[in-house]
Amino acid sequence: MKARLAKWRLFTIFSMLTLVLSGCGEPFLSTLTPAGEVAQSQYDLMVLSTVIMVFVIIAVTAVYLIAVVKFRRKKGDEKKIPKQVEGSHVLEIVWTVIPIILLLVLAVPTVTATFKFADVQDMEKKNKDGEREALVVNVRANLYWWEFEYPDQKVVTGQELVVPTDQKVYFQIKASDVKHSFWIPAVGGKMDTNTDNVNKMWLEFDDEKAKDADNLFYGKCAELCGPSHALMDFKVRALPKAEFDQWMEDMKTAKEETPADPEAQAGQEIFKQNCLSCHAVTPEDARPEQARLAPNLANFGERTRVAGILDHNEDELKNWIKDPEKYKPGNKMTGTYGELSDQELDQLATYLMSLKVQD
Ligand code: CUA
Repeated sequence: MKARLAKWRLFTIFSMLTLVLSGCGEPFLSTLTPAGEVAQSQYDLMVLSTVIMVFVIIAVTAVYLIAVVKFRRKKGDEKKIPKQVEGSHVLEIVWTVIPIILLLVLAVPTVTATFKFADVQDMEKKNKDGEREALVVNVRANLYWWEFEYPDQKVVTGQELVVPTDQKVYFQIKASDVKHSFWIPAVGGKMDTNTDNVNKMWLEFDDEKAKDADNLFYGKCAELCGPSHALMDFKVRALPKAEFDQWMEDMKTAKEETPADPEAQAGQEIFKQNCLSCHAVTPEDARPEQARLAPNLANFGERTRVAGILDHNEDELKNWIKDPEKYKPGNKMTGTYGELSDQELDQLATYLMSLKVQD
């Protein structure tokens, strides 16, 4: 009976593992399907260290088994003492040199890659007009949302990072409240976002792999930061250079507009009274970052998620506005929107969904 129970337990554990691990390997989310130079190097390092560790496990187990089988005390041979090898120079050199070689094989590529990932020298390269050649994004992590600022283009956006493929994108990373960590599993990372210093790194988004992922990668907060840490997601739209340039042009020229639809117009009024003190609706946001208390909503109607986690439709949007605490416990938007009537909520949602910068 007991044995059967144990078997069932094992079976359950393995089925759970299968279920959990079946989530791995998705091209938009997994470190096991690297989609850029950094992720590929990190993956290669993982494979290298796994191979070496498996080799060590097999070698040690083999030696152990040989010792147990060959040198066990045998019937009629109880008095026999096998040849003693204590102090053997050959053996001691062998088991010192092999680990040193293995460590070198691990250390050299790891250290080399670490320095390569941290090399952001080219970030400051200027062209002959004195403009920066590289694309730089300032990442700012907040409880529980992400801001992406393109300082050279004077464009601010929230929750969805947009990048060109097949070129290095440089990130300057920090946090405005507590420590978070910036991580795009399929493309690389992770890097701590701190409150007292700016960390820098670069990533490259492979164009072919981006296509496999429908040009949309998932980003995560990788540092336990509060009750909604696991919900602190962002999305990355990795676009071919021409499409990215078009997007950037649209963002740069986007202006606040009065919507034609009277419902959306009414929503805009409600927005101005209730939301505009924290949220902005133009990508150009001249306020200092301390004043940018909530995600920029300029292209809200074009996003793939509401609040980073909910499906992008009016119903979920209204659910979110009605009770943000229910969906992201501890978030800063909590608690001021309860007084809106159903009609006002409808109007507000219509307005927010109409916020688009691309035609
Ligand atoms: Cu932010 Cu975890």
